[in-house]
Amino acid sequence: MPFHKLTVSLESRSYPIHIGAGLTASKSAAQIVPRLRGQHGVVVTNTTIAPLYLDRVQKWLRAAGYESTAIILPDGEKYKSHETLLSLYQNMFRAGLQRNSFVCALGGGVIGDLSGYAAATYMRGVDLLHIPTTILAQVDSAIGGKNGVNLEAGKNFIGTTYQPRVVISDVDFIETLSEREILGGLGEVIKYGLLAGDDFISFLEMNKSEILARDPRCLATMIHFCSRIKADYVVRDEYDRLGVRAALNLGHTVGHALEKLFDYQKFTHGEAVAIGLVASLVLAHDMNLLTEVALERSLQLLRAFGLPMQIPEAADVDEMIALMRRDKKAENGLSMVLLKALGDPHLENDIDPVRLNRVLTKCKKSQLL
Ligand SMILES: NC(=O)c1ccc[n+]([C@@H]2O[C@H](COP(=O)([O-])OP(=O)(O)OC[C@H]3O[C@@H](n4cnc5c(N)ncnc54)[C@H](O)[C@@H]3O)[C@@H](O)[C@H]2O)c1
Repeated sequence: MPFHKLTVSLESRSYPIHIGAGLTASKSAAQIVPRLRGQHGVVVTNTTIAPLYLDRVQKWLRAAGYESTAIILPDGEKYKSHETLLSLYQNMFRAGLQRNSFVCALGGGVIGDLSGYAAATYMRGVDLLHIPTTILAQVDSAIGGKNGVNLEAGKNFIGTTYQPRVVISDVDFIETLSEREILGGLGEVIKYGLLAGDDFISFLEMNKSEILARDPRCLATMIHFCSRIKADYVVRDEYDRLGVRAALNLGHTVGHALEKLFDYQKFTHGEAVAIGLVASLVLAHDMNLLTEVALERSLQLLRAFGLPMQIPEAADVDEMIALMRRDKKAENGLSMVLLKALGDPHLENDIDPVRLNRVLTKCKKSQLL
């Protein structure tokens, strides 16, 4: 089974990403876990993942010479909160965590974001290891250092950028994910395809059945592709201040609006992103930026993976546009990442709201999709 390794090159904050099947079951722990400041830490996970993988990961860490105490949080986005964070700090303190201890995040994006923020702030920062267990976390949230908790006012309002020491993406974990979580992750994967262009899109087109069947070899190659793309954006704009990393927001402006419009109940993040991708593709085509051929190829990819593509009839388009104007990342009024070609994203500012309204309304009609 092939293993992939790449480095996120950020000078003294550089770290490796390891991708492969059976990584956390292998005897190679000592080669993969970097030299940490101390021998003891915590593994933070949730009630769903603990019975599946906690024991295995703690044993594996032990094989590398690291002892850990488990902290098991409740499962769900609503626990990405200050209340959970406070109890996490208290449990870290009770476990005897010192400045030279480590935090190992074992879970999806929720656990990763919470643990990352706790690691960044506990005693002004302790070593952080990411062991992501969802596709979304392996291709996105575990890479790049963003972390945080939600506020009543909005998602991810509080947070820092704090890089881990290592990311270990074991594709064995994907086996137990629900179909819906797989699909959500694939929404983000297709986003990377559209950002990167022909090579990765062709890979996805040719390996659709294997990916959907969770073939470990294909999953590892797919996650490696995505990790490389994400790492490249992170390296060029670590703190998201240069407008480079903003391209990763493709599909997200509409996606976030949809998630919020339906109170985070109707769509997973990745499903909303998939619909957001459709809207941004149709808009780019409507503005004569993207050719018909590129539009059709992209839509076909989303269709082939069975992702949701249609804005629900019940969605109020005016309300969606109002939410998009308030998007945390929309700095200049109505802006969205659009493609000029497959693999060529750019940030379009001052989008005409009348045109956008027409495009979003069109995206409610299934026959167009
Ligand atoms: N920091 C970033 O850069 C970044 C980027 C994207 C998303 N995010 C955040 O990530 C979060 C979403 O992450 P997610 O999609 O991984 O959701 P999640 O962490 O809620 O996980 C989804 C569900 O799958 C379960 N699960 C996880 N791994 C499993 C496994 N191997 N087998 C069975 N069940 C498993 C979880 O317990 C949960 O119920 C959001 O809070 C979002 O804001 C952060």
